[in-house]
Amino acid sequence: MPALSTPSRYTITAALPYTNGPIHIGHLAGVYVPADIYSRFLRGVGRDVLFVCGSDEHGVAISMKAKKEGISPKEVIDKYHQMIDQSFQDFGIAFDHYSRTSGATHHQTAADFFQKLHSEEKFIAETTPQLYDPEAQQFLADRFVTGTCPKCSFEEAYGDQCESCGTSLNATELIQPKSTLSGATPILKDTKHWFLPLDQYEDFLKEWILEGHKKDWKPNVYGQCKSWIDDGLKPRAVTRDLDWGIPVPVEGGAGKVLYVWFDAPIGYISASKEWGEKNGKDWAPYWKDSDSKLVHFIGKDNIVFHCIIFPSMLKAHGDYILPDNVPANEFLNLEGQKLSTSKNWAVWLHEYLLDFPNLQDVLRYTLTANAPESKDNDFTWKDFQARNNNELVAIFGNFINRATVLTHKYYQGSVPAPNDLSTEDTLTLEKLKEFPDIIAASIEKYRFREASTELMNVARLGNKYLADQEPWKLIKTDPDRVQTIMYVGLQIAAALSVLSKPFLPFTASKLETALHTEALHLSWNSVSDSKPLLAAGHVISEPKLLFRKIEDAEISAQLEKLEQTKKTNEKMNATLAPQKETTSFEDFSKLDLRTGTIIAAEKMPKAKKLLVLQVQTGLDIRTIVSGIAEHFNPEDIVGKQVTVLINLAPRVLRGVESQGMILMTEDSQGSLVFVNPDQSGVADGSVIS
Ligand code: MF3
Ligand code: ZN
Repeated sequence: MPALSTPSRYTITAALPYTNGPIHIGHLAGVYVPADIYSRFLRGVGRDVLFVCGSDEHGVAISMKAKKEGISPKEVIDKYHQMIDQSFQDFGIAFDHYSRTSGATHHQTAADFFQKLHSEEKFIAETTPQLYDPEAQQFLADRFVTGTCPKCSFEEAYGDQCESCGTSLNATELIQPKSTLSGATPILKDTKHWFLPLDQYEDFLKEWILEGHKKDWKPNVYGQCKSWIDDGLKPRAVTRDLDWGIPVPVEGGAGKVLYVWFDAPIGYISASKEWGEKNGKDWAPYWKDSDSKLVHFIGKDNIVFHCIIFPSMLKAHGDYILPDNVPANEFLNLEGQKLSTSKNWAVWLHEYLLDFPNLQDVLRYTLTANAPESKDNDFTWKDFQARNNNELVAIFGNFINRATVLTHKYYQGSVPAPNDLSTEDTLTLEKLKEFPDIIAASIEKYRFREASTELMNVARLGNKYLADQEPWKLIKTDPDRVQTIMYVGLQIAAALSVLSKPFLPFTASKLETALHTEALHLSWNSVSDSKPLLAAGHVISEPKLLFRKIEDAEISAQLEKLEQTKKTNEKMNATLAPQKETTSFEDFSKLDLRTGTIIAAEKMPKAKKLLVLQVQTGLDIRTIVSGIAEHFNPEDIVGKQVTVLINLAPRVLRGVESQGMILMTEDSQGSLVFVNPDQSGVADGSVIS
C-alpha cells in the first residue's frame, strides 16, 4: 500500500438532506455515493469507520413546504424522512446510523451546545432591526425572504445565502428584499438575537485553512474559503424568530428557535451518539480524539457552513476535533438544465427504481464515472445507456460471463490447476496486483471518477487477456495451456469481486455468490498478495448475468418523461389572463351549458377560419358556426363530445345562422382544444352547472 496516513478512526459525515422532498440523482452524485465509496473502501481495508447522516428537519424549507401543502411541518418531515431513508437503503448507502434532527437526542445535544457557548459568553446578544413582513406579521429570515445578492447581483438570493455565488448573507444585506410569504416589501423591526462573532475567528480560520489545508483541500473548496476570509467575516445570528425548530434554551429565548444551520451540523454528533447508544459503543473518540479523522461530504452550496461556521462553532465549544477535509462536489445538471425540486426537473430515486428495478449499481456507476468533482457536470440518459451497455455490460459483465461460463463448460465449475506461466500470464498477474494501490490512492485523494476508471481497467485487463489468449480455440489442441489461462482469468474475476465492493456493492455481492468466495473473506490487500485468490479445486457456481443491456426504448421513455415535465412547467409559467370582474350567480345561471356531440363538420366555403358544425345537443340537432378551421380538420372532430352554450343569441355568419357556441381553451403550445366532459357515460344534453 502507499503510505496511507493512518488515523485511529474515521468519522465520515454526509450532508443531512432537508426533508422537504424526496432525493434525486444530484444528491446521490454530489454527496452520498462518494461518501459511501469512501466509507466502504476504508472498512474494506480494515479501518475503524463511523459513517453517519440523518434528516435535516428544521428550518424554513420545511415550514414552506408545509404551508404549500396545507399540512403540518411534522407531517412533512415524517413523510420525507421515511422516503429518503428508504432511498438510501435501496441504493446501498451504508450509513452506520441514519438519524433525524427532530429526535430527542438531537434536541438535547443542540440545546446543550448552545447553552455551553452561551454560558461561556461566546455569543453576542443584541437587539437589532430585522426584516419583518407586515402582512404576514412575521420576521423574515433565510428562505422566507429573497432579494438581490449584494455580491454578485443574483436576484433570487435567500436571506442567509446566495446560492449563485455561495456567499453567506445576513437578510438585511439583501437589496430590494421581498417576502416569499406575501410578496410584501419587508419593514425593519427590532428583535433580540444571539450572534456568533465570526470576525473573532478569522485568525484561527486563516491559520487552520489558508495555511494548514492549502495543499490537501480541493481547489474549489479552498478557493471559496479564501475569498470569504479575505473579504472579512461578520457576526452571524444563530437564532431566529420562528416557531419551527429547536427552542432557544436560554433566558429571553421564548418564541425563538436555533438557526437551522446552527442545529443541523450538530446533527452529525447527535447521530453518532445515537449510534453509540444503539450499538453499545463509545461515540466520543470519533469526535474528541485528535487521532480521529473527520471528513464532511457535501455539495458546494454547503461549503461556507462546513468550512467556516461549523468549525468556528466547534472551536468555540472546545471539546471537538475539526474536519480534516471537506471534499465538496460541484453540481450535477440533468440534460443540460439545473436540477430543481420545485420544477420537478430531476430523476427521483424512488421513480428510477420503478423504471429500472435492481439497477442501482448502474446509476451509482454512471454518477461516479461522471461525477461533478471539479466542475458542474451533466447527466444525460444517453450517457447512462452508453456507460451501461459499453462498460458494465460489454467489459465487466462480458469478462465475468466468459470466465465463469468457460470454467463450467471445461471443468464443471472447478478452478483448474495452472501449468507453467507464460510471460503474458506473469505480466497480467503482476499488473493485477498493482490495482488495489492504484485505486486506493485515488480514493484517498477523493478522486472517485479516477478510481472507478481504474476499477473498469481491471475488467479491461481480464477481457483483453481472454481475448488475446483465446482459450476457446485452444481447448481442443492444448488443454494444458487452457487450464493456465482459465486459472489466471479467474484470479482477475475474484479480484473484481473485491475491488468493486465500494463502487458496485450489489454486483460485488452477486459476484461473491457466483464465485463462492463469501467464506474466503478476501480483503482488499489480498489482491496484492502472492497467494492466489482462488486456489485450484475451488468450485464456483453456475453463472448468472450481472448486468443487462438497456434498450433505446427505455431511454426514449425517460426523455419523453422529461419533455412532459418541460411542457407542464411551460404551462404553469404561461402568463395567464387576469381574473375578470366578478359576476353574480344570477348572471351565471342564465347560461345554458350542455354536453353535446359534433355529428357533422364541413368547411365554410371561402372562409379560412370557419367550420359549419352539426351538433347533437340532446334537445335537437343544430348548426353552429365555429372559428376553429385553422386548428382542426373537419373529419377529425366528428364524434367528439364537447361543451355547448345553447342559449346564445343566434348570429348569422356568412349567411349561415349559428345557434350556439362550442367552448374551447388553449393548451401550453397555444393550440385550441375542446372543453369536453372527458367522461364516458355523460349523455348529450346533460346540464353543466
Ligand atoms: N440540509 C442541508 C442542505 O440540503 C444540508 C445540511 S448539512 C448539515 O443543503 F451540516 F447541516 F447537516
Ligand atoms: Zn451572490
